[in-house]
Amino acid sequence: MAKHSLAVIVLAAGQGTRMRSALPKVLHPVAGLPMVRHVLNAAAMLKPERSIVVLAPGMEQVAKAVAPATIAIQQQPLGTGHAVQAALPALKGFTGDVLVLFGDTPMLTTATLKAMLAARRSKSRSGGDGPAVVVSGFRPADAAAYGRLVLDAKGELEAIVEYKDATPEQRAIGFCNGGVMLLDGARLPGLLKRLDNSNAKGEYYLTDLVQLARAKGWGCRAVEVSEIDVMGVNNRAELALAEAYMQARLRAAALEAGVTMTAPETVYLRADTKLGRDVSIEPHVVFGANVEIGDSVTIRAFSHIEGARVAAGAVLGPYARLRPGADIGPEAHIGNFVEIKQARVEAGAKVNHLTYIGDARIGAKANIGAGTITCNYDGFNKSHTDIGAGAFIGSNSALVAPVTIGDGAIVAAGSTITGDVPADAMALARGRQENKLGLAGRFRAQQAKKKQQSKNQ
Ligand code: UD1
Ligand code: MG
Repeated sequence: MAKHSLAVIVLAAGQGTRMRSALPKVLHPVAGLPMVRHVLNAAAMLKPERSIVVLAPGMEQVAKAVAPATIAIQQQPLGTGHAVQAALPALKGFTGDVLVLFGDTPMLTTATLKAMLAARRSKSRSGGDGPAVVVSGFRPADAAAYGRLVLDAKGELEAIVEYKDATPEQRAIGFCNGGVMLLDGARLPGLLKRLDNSNAKGEYYLTDLVQLARAKGWGCRAVEVSEIDVMGVNNRAELALAEAYMQARLRAAALEAGVTMTAPETVYLRADTKLGRDVSIEPHVVFGANVEIGDSVTIRAFSHIEGARVAAGAVLGPYARLRPGADIGPEAHIGNFVEIKQARVEAGAKVNHLTYIGDARIGAKANIGAGTITCNYDGFNKSHTDIGAGAFIGSNSALVAPVTIGDGAIVAAGSTITGDVPADAMALARGRQENKLGLAGRFRAQQAKKKQQSKNQ
């Protein structure tokens, strides 16, 4: 049983200087999630017994972001093999499979890792154990400076040769090391001990483990994976490219799951966006973190939604903005230029035009008129507005919180409400209208006369 258990080591001690950033490279988000978390999530599906992240000293921010993974510190960046050595204390006593990943490959999928696990756990042709080392191989359009995979006549992996150390013949090989490696944990410490740094970079190469294993007579295999799966992010251009690939993947998954998108390439999803069945999303909709959309919700164009829950059958937008804590009930309507923050809009309520609702509850079937503002902030404290079921708030009303509008109450248009309104009452809180008959005509005549006089002067 121990044989089929799994430990994961994520290498992330590199400084990522080409990002030109105050933020450590692996914390740069793709679809809203730090790159290293994508890597950990892909591995988490395999239920590893241990997850270890290798960091350089001083990377506390990353340590926090990868919790509850175990942190191993690599004191100096002496190479990928050296980084795995730094993780050995955390692997003590572990004899299952060890998966080594890089923290800057956000597109890695569980499917790819499973293919590698299957290769490692397969019996060899002679019926013996599976290969001691399994390496991800890919055939990039431009092989650039990747390590080259050298295969023997039987197609077994013989060696990985780093670009800087490769002969012209080896550089002509198009099959490259994708970085993901799977090793036999029982044999790993012994192999790591034999690494040296007598190479072009003066580093302890993890990739040298292949030759060392072969020298012991152990099998090694390369499993071909997609280029996108192992793409590394080293600069902002590659970050943008990874984002584009990730968005394409998330959109495809949403379409597959029964979401309609008229222009999917214009819809921006987050890794954690949850969409129900028969959700319909018009062009140019942006999702922030932590959004859950129920079945049959329609999201019209140019809406921006973050930290919100939307129940079945609701209609949002066009140009709706839902901020954290927005909780939209079934069949509710949130219309154009409406901002909702930390507020529950109950079933069938309508907030259709030019409105700010913050720190509030809007009861079922209430109707909130155009230009309504919940005045929730006095410069010091946030206060709550409670609007009862079936209430009607007339246009251009200011509701100064804390305030309660009872069930079925009506607030006349243009009111500034500073006190509670009982259920079924009508509140009028605005200047009284006065009509001066004929005054408009007299006013105009007077102005015309003045104009004439100044011309004659
Ligand atoms: C590595 C492989 C190369 C492969 C390529 C794929 C080696 C020797 N080479 O090269 O065969 O084609 O990845 O992208 O493994 N890291 C540490 N500590 C270190 C050095 C690196 O934690 O001392 C981490 C980095 O943060 C990074 C990962 O290991 O996440 C890979 O290091 P990197 O320098 O990018 O390796 P490459 O030279 O690209
Ligand atoms: Mg690299």
